[in-house]
Amino acid sequence: MIENFLEGKVALITGAGSGFGREIAISFANKGANLVLNDINLESIEETRDIILKSSKVDVLLEQADISNEEQVSIMSKNVFNKFDNLFILVNNAGIRGGTSSLKTKTQDYDKVMNVNVKGAWNVTKAFYKKMRKQKFEPVVGKIINMTSCAGTECGLNPFIGIYSVSKAALLAFTKLWALELGPSNITVNAVCPGIFLTPIYDNDESLIREWIKLRQIKLPINKIGESKQVADVVLFLASPAADYITGQNLILDGGMTISINKL
Ligand SMILES: NC(=O)c1ccc[n+]([C@@H]2O[C@H](COP(=O)([O-])OP(=O)(O)OC[C@H]3O[C@@H](n4cnc5c(N)ncnc54)[C@H](O)[C@@H]3O)[C@@H](O)[C@H]2O)c1
Repeated sequence: MIENFLEGKVALITGAGSGFGREIAISFANKGANLVLNDINLESIEETRDIILKSSKVDVLLEQADISNEEQVSIMSKNVFNKFDNLFILVNNAGIRGGTSSLKTKTQDYDKVMNVNVKGAWNVTKAFYKKMRKQKFEPVVGKIINMTSCAGTECGLNPFIGIYSVSKAALLAFTKLWALELGPSNITVNAVCPGIFLTPIYDNDESLIREWIKLRQIKLPINKIGESKQVADVVLFLASPAADYITGQNLILDGGMTISINKL
């Protein structure tokens, strides 16, 4: 991969205070990107910034905002363009788990998950795409990368976390729609679709994940729980010039989980 291919470019990562978001921010900084770190929790992005500034000399803007709140997202967008002259990469990463069986989920839990996982990504994308479209980079003027989940794919739909599954299926649909809508403006839109990874979303507890895998009779052809760095590497690939002709795709990294259902 070309050294420092993100130099002069700005990347915004939502949910950058933890798990995948933090790892993605670190990997972008290693390639020279200036960063906007968003999270609902300020301390968590201060920590991410401190980790990054130990080894990189990039510019970092912290933006505490709840992505489900349109007004807060609009203020974030103004702050970003007050400080920086571009936003080359937007990673819609922030997401929450929630919901049990879809028909038993309470309305307030439905709203919570859908408001962050679907409306949040929609809010942020709406707030940035117009300026991204006018940027002078070549051949691609900007890139949007959404964090979906195997739980939102046809084989992965999961009745134990029904509304979460629905939210990720919707984000996948948005990925394809935005690729269609923004392709003519030379913006690529793709999704990264993790299987089961050890992050704070699972309380960083491998035994909890193993129990769940057993309960659901999931077989992993590569029998390992994924690590955040593996997700960050795929996001970095999509952010790189090697992926300039890829759009509307959902890159699954799941150790083979989704292809193995009912086959192992
Ligand atoms: N960990 C997995 O196995 C896994 C698998 C598939 C998909 N995902 C998806 O990857 C993404 C990141 O997951 P993670 O495992 O790193 O989770 P995480 O809980 O470690 O990190 C999510 C971050 O998003 C932030 N956040 C939550 N609500 C927010 C809001 N309204 N506004 C702004 N920030 C908010 C949290 O504070 C947290 O820092 C999520 O979208 C998740 O659904 C995770």
